Amino acid sequence: MALAIRFHDQRQGPHESSLRNEVLAGFSAEQKWLSPKFFYDQRGSELFERICEQPEYYPTRTEEAILARAAQDIATLAGRDANLVELGSGASQKVRLLLEAMHPASYLGIDISKDFLLTSTHRLATDYPWLEVHAACADFSKTMQLPKGFDGRHPLAFFPGSSIGNFTPPQALAFLTNLHGLLPPGGALLIGVDLVKNKAVLEAAYNDKAGVTAEFNLHLLERIHDELDCDLDPQSFSHHAFFNECESRIEMHLVSQTSQDVTIEGQRFHFAAGESLHTENSYKYTAAGFCELATHAGFRPVALWTDPAALFSVHFLRRE
Ligand code: AVI
Repeated sequence: MALAIRFHDQRQGPHESSLRNEVLAGFSAEQKWLSPKFFYDQRGSELFERICEQPEYYPTRTEEAILARAAQDIATLAGRDANLVELGSGASQKVRLLLEAMHPASYLGIDISKDFLLTSTHRLATDYPWLEVHAACADFSKTMQLPKGFDGRHPLAFFPGSSIGNFTPPQALAFLTNLHGLLPPGGALLIGVDLVKNKAVLEAAYNDKAGVTAEFNLHLLERIHDELDCDLDPQSFSHHAFFNECESRIEMHLVSQTSQDVTIEGQRFHFAAGESLHTENSYKYTAAGFCELATHAGFRPVALWTDPAALFSVHFLRRE
């Protein structure tokens, strides 16, 4: 039997042109930068799944343990027949911890990587034949809309993995405020947020010994190399990740090993030896600090779960 996934294409235009435009703009800035959303093509999404399996990368297994323990409480708070909407659904693994307990009326996975999204949602539809499964391909950091019907039956938005940490605090506030506007009163947000902790633990998580995070970071340059007209050599850069305590964030950079000129789409950019391209921020919050941010966006903190070592937090926030 063909499995019915309802697909909603919410992309705003050719993905390649936005990579091109953002590379040209980001490489022209004083501190060269590129949005981390470009990590997540098929290969990048696979590399991210491998990061999640690394012993040093504690967020995934810690959040999963929290969700497994809290699933019944979450189901009670969400109510029966909720519409479950997962933002940045990726491999749609964590949501499995909620499905049995919640028995939602429907599931909508939203992700920027179309092929990865379709594979993951098909797998869900196979494993949960009673579930109405939808997939929406969208850059939810820019445009977010809920397909018709999803805003009606008390939706629960699920944003796991501390992806909120990849926004700056003002961007996170704008994102949460936007999400608040999309949800009807009574809707809710279940969100995973990584916590501030010992610097060595944080830095190890972004510098795994197997080098998968380095490969993930360098993959950005491989995408530029493969998808744009350019002479960039990914091998002339190296991965650098550290905890910036003042900003409470992990920063990931790609550092040029030599002084070099790179031509991309006819524009020339100079990299001094040691100069970096800033590729990702991953902000770490205190539980109280995050509750304050969510309250500013119009949410009411209802429940908070953490692990015994207080590495990670999961928040249930009600849309007022
Ligand atoms: C998706 N995001 C929350 C991950 C993080 O930890 O910021 C992405 C990541 N980057 C390097 N490792 C994992």
